[in-house]
Amino acid sequence: MSVIEQSSSPTTNHAVDPAPWWRQAVVYQIYPRSFADANGDGLGDIPGITSKADYLQGLGIDAVWLSPFYPSELADGGYDVADYRNVDPRLGTLGDFDEMVDALHDRDIKVVVDIVPNHTSDQHAWFQEALAAGRGSAARQRYIFREGTGQDGSQPPTDWESIFGGPAWEQVADGQWYLHNFAVEQPDLNWACPEVRADFVKTLHFWSDRGVDGFRIDVAHMLTKDLTEPLPSSAELRLIPMDGQHPMVDRDDVHDVYAEWRLVFNSYDPPRTAVAEAWVDKARVPRYASPEGLGQAFNFDLLQADFDADQFENVVRENLQLARVSGSSSTWVLSNHDVTRHATRYGLPHPPREPNGLPAIKHGLEWILSGGESPELDRHSGERRARAATLFMLGLPGSSYLYQGEELGLHEVADIPDSARQDPTFFRSGGVDLGRDGCRVPLPWTESPDTAFGFGEGGSHLPQPDWFSGYAASGQDCDTGSSLSLYRRALQLRRALQTGEQLEWIDSGRADVLRFRRPNGWEVVTNFGTEPYELDRADVLVSTREVTDGTLPGESTAWLASDPV
Ligand code: BGC
Repeated sequence: MSVIEQSSSPTTNHAVDPAPWWRQAVVYQIYPRSFADANGDGLGDIPGITSKADYLQGLGIDAVWLSPFYPSELADGGYDVADYRNVDPRLGTLGDFDEMVDALHDRDIKVVVDIVPNHTSDQHAWFQEALAAGRGSAARQRYIFREGTGQDGSQPPTDWESIFGGPAWEQVADGQWYLHNFAVEQPDLNWACPEVRADFVKTLHFWSDRGVDGFRIDVAHMLTKDLTEPLPSSAELRLIPMDGQHPMVDRDDVHDVYAEWRLVFNSYDPPRTAVAEAWVDKARVPRYASPEGLGQAFNFDLLQADFDADQFENVVRENLQLARVSGSSSTWVLSNHDVTRHATRYGLPHPPREPNGLPAIKHGLEWILSGGESPELDRHSGERRARAATLFMLGLPGSSYLYQGEELGLHEVADIPDSARQDPTFFRSGGVDLGRDGCRVPLPWTESPDTAFGFGEGGSHLPQPDWFSGYAASGQDCDTGSSLSLYRRALQLRRALQTGEQLEWIDSGRADVLRFRRPNGWEVVTNFGTEPYELDRADVLVSTREVTDGTLPGESTAWLASDPV
């Protein structure tokens, strides 16, 4: 029996626009420092993005999301923001930003920017002021400063560990300690301070006034904290339930912040959008995604699933249900700037696991020796599966987030020399965790290694491997069998096919084959196994491997439609 799943109905808070653009958008994530370098200094920049506006339009995306491009010391790839209302001079100017927005808007591409509200850079004027102003000052109230423990206060206030490894407290010259849940250079802000709240509202207006269409909210679940003394030990902290009252994570009161932001978003026409990066218990995700809150939340479940029919089906069922609860549409992600690229994940013999059983998305690069050339990695199977998973994802109702370079079928770069690594997770884990640099290597635009494979005249800030040549956009441009051509075709078809948000499962007759139907007879069939699967229809619109005589090969996806598109 087939069951029709309605993702949810479009939000009703904007009666004039029954289906806001973001509900079923394809959003392409740009990591600006590694996308395209127009001024030849080895770092990607804003004019570089503008220079690729035609490429982005040709790809067929609806929006770009830019990871931070703000002034930053780059202690965490730009997620250590020194000034929220400016552009890093190495990446351009506010004028360049405006030109980029115009170029993208002219091509019907929306612009989403990253807001990093949990912490600033230690170079931010506020933090510098807090250091100079000393204990007890109003400037220190914007951050989380505490006295140390031990006889002379030389021990940190607690034994908490930062998410990037190592202690979560750092001592300053006058003896006080400040909290940093990430790198030392990323002091946590104090969201109980009205000035902090007011300043972010100002930032949201600043970018909205410049024409930005939406925001991606970094670490959205950790802003508010209850650090009333006595502070729990890390062992005690782990035992506190995540029920909205946890001292540090996913507190109910964080939604007061987002309710205020919603008023800002809705004061624009069209309303600005937002998507939460919130690593919280599933049952608590809908609140972030509600129309009174940020409006949408990331779901990272596909990104954590193996290439497996059962796992994919469960992820889809569960997340469409959550979208029904929030009234939002779901989001789907296979790769981003924090995880090993999915072509590589799927090419590993069996995905490395964290001690908690989750796939080692941030770790485990030790598996991929010598830049993916190791016998451990089946590069071809990884690519076949990646294409199949991508076409499956693009067939789902909701919005899909793509990460720069995945359209080229790029693998992770694993063999970056230690001396060239940049990610704080590498350093703070003493090199145990190879970190996230491998998915942040500048893109290969052309086949020749001169000009850093077309990235820019000034080389590349992370070393590019020789094998990038075979993945260059230029080589794939006119090749109808390339990954790039597949993405272009799929995105073009998706625009034509995407209507309602319903999904109806169809019994495929095989445990390793998933099949579902969307409105107007659009069908998506994914063969997760290796045995070919007989389609009972011949009207294939696009497929990741060739369908001959109605036979869908293993590790592939096909889209079918009764009506010509
Ligand atoms: C971002 C990371 C960043 C961290 C701290 C995240 O979740 O995606 O890249 O390191 O927040 O800002």
